Amino acid sequence: MRNLPIVAIDGPAGSGKSTVAKALAKRLQFVHVDTGALYRGVAWLAIRKGVELGVEQDVVATSSGVKFEFRYIGDGNHLFLDGEDVANFIRTEEVSAAASKVSAFPGVRSLLLDLQRSFGKTGGVVLEGRDIGTVVFPNAELKFFLFASPQERALRRHQELKAKGIESDLDSVAQDLAKRDHQDSTRAIAPLKQAADAIPVDTSGKTIEAVLDQLEALVRQRMVY
Ligand code: DC
Repeated sequence: MRNLPIVAIDGPAGSGKSTVAKALAKRLQFVHVDTGALYRGVAWLAIRKGVELGVEQDVVATSSGVKFEFRYIGDGNHLFLDGEDVANFIRTEEVSAAASKVSAFPGVRSLLLDLQRSFGKTGGVVLEGRDIGTVVFPNAELKFFLFASPQERALRRHQELKAKGIESDLDSVAQDLAKRDHQDSTRAIAPLKQAADAIPVDTSGKTIEAVLDQLEALVRQRMVY
């Protein structure tokens, strides 16, 4: 048995998952693993190599043998690929769309599965993604499924982009999110789905602090000393 729990946080883009997972890990002094960053890493490698994103074997080949690791830099956990910090390259809209696409490939999912398990197996970790509670750690001690209304999720993403100095149109952000949701939840393997034993958390209209207080209390109740 693990001394410290595995906390799985799944949910669609814009549900507040990333902000909450990062801050919750900090409050609990757990490790934070952003599994979406791994899929973004695969997509970014494929784009950089100029590989056709629709050809599974070529996409898988560009990532095979590459060392994926996380290192804390300042306040964030950065993804490094073969020693190169790619944290600043993997958040573009181009990579978001490509990550959603390549994450549907079975070869990409199996390439990243053992890696995600190795990051979490000792416990004391908050993993966020789409299939953590259903596939990666189906016996995680705590599972949360975050969601929010489509309007609120689009507005959050729009504001996030603005904060980064990227102008965007709210309607097209909403359309991109809807497209990604559809792709992520209808793929054949490990689709975005709430695990039967996950606690649903509606973040619409709630502050991050309020959501964090709720999740932290639930995790602490389950911790074994
Ligand atoms: O969480 P994110 O938006 O950074 O994830 C990017 C893409 O990666 C997302 O569209 C779906 C995919 N993904 C996945 O399929 N499984 C995960 N556990 C995490 C992300």
